[in-house]
Amino acid sequence: MSTTLFYYTGTGNSLWVARKVADESGETELIPIATFNSDSRPITSETIGLIFPVYIWGVPAPVLRLIETLSKFNPQYLFAVAVNGGQVSNTLVQLQKVLASKNMKLNAGFSITMPSNYIPWGGPGPVEIQQQKFDAAMEKIPQIAAVIKAKQTLPVEKGPLWQRILYTGFYKLSFNQVPKMDGQFWVDEKCNQCGICQKVCPANNITLVEGKPVWNHRCEQCYACLQWCPKEAIQYGKKTPQYERYHHPEVKLKDVLKRG
Ligand SMILES: Cc1cc2nc3c(=O)[nH]c(=O)nc-3n(C[C@H](O)[C@H](O)[C@H](O)COP(=O)(O)O)c2cc1C
Repeated sequence: MSTTLFYYTGTGNSLWVARKVADESGETELIPIATFNSDSRPITSETIGLIFPVYIWGVPAPVLRLIETLSKFNPQYLFAVAVNGGQVSNTLVQLQKVLASKNMKLNAGFSITMPSNYIPWGGPGPVEIQQQKFDAAMEKIPQIAAVIKAKQTLPVEKGPLWQRILYTGFYKLSFNQVPKMDGQFWVDEKCNQCGICQKVCPANNITLVEGKPVWNHRCEQCYACLQWCPKEAIQYGKKTPQYERYHHPEVKLKDVLKRG
């Protein structure tokens, strides 16, 4: 393979972007970060891409863990796509710095805006607006693929300075709290004990007790459990019973159940 795309996803946006980038790039393999084991799986591609959602204005922990092992693959060209709900903020600058600290260069970093899956702040928005975001992504992805094919080096995309300063502070403050934020998940009477929440969790954070989910404080806050629950029985805090669920319309449950 000439290109390897590592992706992380909760609700399919990043997987969809990864698929579209792969379609445009040819000879590309997609690897889910959630189940990747660098010891059993050497990567020899010249080009490596990281495609992941922005979490709390920064890089999610599973992507940072992958970076620990990335240098041994010695990629010639490294790029990233930070998939976000409209505020990429400092994510790609952070990624660039983390890679530099491991003697790797981020050749290009792109932002793609998709519907937000951060349900504590509300649903994904009207379908027409969602479609506008998909259309804009479809326009941008061929441009990204052209840059990758030409192995161009470009400045990473970033948000306004005020946002990067303020929100990087929030990212740093919350980063160590994320695994325990699952204390606010709960399950309502609609739960039919199907166990999909357990199977869809990329962090293996859910056990079933008498058929119902219990979260074990290794949460990555991807919201896959809540968003993919077929009964909409999983809630977070007080407001989610009133909010619409979301996953990318072209990504199916089976695509995220196994993740490799
Ligand atoms: C815990 C969490 C934090 C998020 N933080 C941000 C953020 O800081 N900026 C932003 O634009 N979107 C944010 N989002 C929205 C996601 O980045 C966005 O919906 C993304 O497309 C989800 O990708 P996925 O479907 O591949 O999981 C956040 C989502 C979650 C679940």
